[in-house]
Amino acid sequence: MKEEIGREAHDIVRGALEFKQEEPYSPERRKFLVLVILGCGGIISAIVGLPLLGLFLQPLLQTPKDVWRVVGKVDDFALNTTTQVVFQNAYAHPWDGVSSHDAAWLRRAGPATFVAFSEYCQHLGCPVRWNNDAQLFYCPCHGGVYYSNGQVAAGPPPRALQRYQTRVRNGYVELKTGAIPFAY
Ligand code: FES
Repeated sequence: MKEEIGREAHDIVRGALEFKQEEPYSPERRKFLVLVILGCGGIISAIVGLPLLGLFLQPLLQTPKDVWRVVGKVDDFALNTTTQVVFQNAYAHPWDGVSSHDAAWLRRAGPATFVAFSEYCQHLGCPVRWNNDAQLFYCPCHGGVYYSNGQVAAGPPPRALQRYQTRVRNGYVELKTGAIPFAY
């Protein structure tokens, strides 16, 4: 019995050695196998990953539609005052959180006339601040100054503040949001 097992083991070892001799090490074959494995991995990753990538990129590739956003009741804004209003931008996605919020400066110029200015300075895009005493917009970055009608008063801004369209509906003021009104 012992002899039989020993013989079998001997045969196995000899078989392995013969196999090894018949199949000499081939770097080309190894390279080919690696390429096949990598190729299969790539194909599987593409099958699984591309639909997921499309899911995430699709909202970014869509052209944002203009959306009217309510920013308050007409009576919330006194005549000839400028107030900051916050609204959700037109690009909002469910996962954006507070980063989907945008702001504008809303001026009530008449009983039913509202003017909305983008808060982005036309020099390099810093958010401008309204100073009620001076009746001017100030940019904190490089000293840009704008009049209450958005025209440039001083500093480096090359043009007036951009405007949003506004309308009054059912006693509420609405702003037309879309592409951020920001021109270089
Ligand atoms: S960004 Fe406003 S003055 Fe430069």
